[in-house]
Amino acid sequence: LSELSHRSIGIFDSGIGGLTVFREISKILPREDLVYLGDTARVPYGTKSAATVTRYAIQNVRFLLKEDVKLIVVACNTASAFAVEALQKEFSIPILGVIEPGVAGALRIGGAASPDTPKPPSGSFELAKPDSHSRQLKICVIGTEGTIASEAYTKALHRRDPSVRVSGVACPLFVPLVEEGWWENEITQQIARHYLNETLDRGLDAMILGCTHYPLLKSTLRKVVGERVALVDSAEETARETALLLDKRGLLRESSARPTHRFFVTDSPERFQRVGSMLLGETLLNVRHVEI
Ligand code: DGL
Repeated sequence: LSELSHRSIGIFDSGIGGLTVFREISKILPREDLVYLGDTARVPYGTKSAATVTRYAIQNVRFLLKEDVKLIVVACNTASAFAVEALQKEFSIPILGVIEPGVAGALRIGGAASPDTPKPPSGSFELAKPDSHSRQLKICVIGTEGTIASEAYTKALHRRDPSVRVSGVACPLFVPLVEEGWWENEITQQIARHYLNETLDRGLDAMILGCTHYPLLKSTLRKVVGERVALVDSAEETARETALLLDKRGLLRESSARPTHRFFVTDSPERFQRVGSMLLGETLLNVRHVEI
């Protein structure tokens, strides 16, 4: 298999948000060549049906296969929720979605606060430790309408631990707010409270950020959920899982030559370049339009 190791990692998303996953993968795997496809002509996926999203996802994979990839990461949560199983049946290449890594990350907190949770000042209170023996872990998943309606996260959590109590909240306004750059703004915080207050009132141990865009709202969400709720970033978890999978299969790129990062979009590159550069905090180069 290792003669495949020189190939690129393929990543696709409905549009720009998957750059959060791209960024985490490029951090954890700085030697890998990455090829990203953003289906910007057909975004959003979050409001579309399972059948449509699955059809788009299959076309996206077919495109990436032509780019000589060794593994495909479905960065889009909605596509992962609706289509990962269909993709894995249809194609023989390893395909990794964001749901399973996010779920594993949420269950790992089982007892400990997440690394993202600030430590209490010394001499003050102890963080509450959810103890699976004495009470159920309460996990909330936030995502697009499609992701929440699919219950993909809930099912995946229950497959691993039937005792977990899972709630799901669709937060459709978050995607445009992030693309507008309103990550830490007062209005965004109010909207987040509006979506999440009821769930927070019932008590929560962890919240899974089940959408490509949400990691950019982490500091606003931290203010809204308080210090004790672990925020699980599925982009980070997926990057870690990608590295483990490549390592296990002997597919890590050996060469120390500078890796290439290429971007393809199905609409014109201009908006992707502009908004994507803001999301990544660096200028995006190498963006090309493709018809798929
Ligand atoms: N990429 C999508 C997701 O993570 C969000 C944007 C969309 O609705 O297409 O679910």
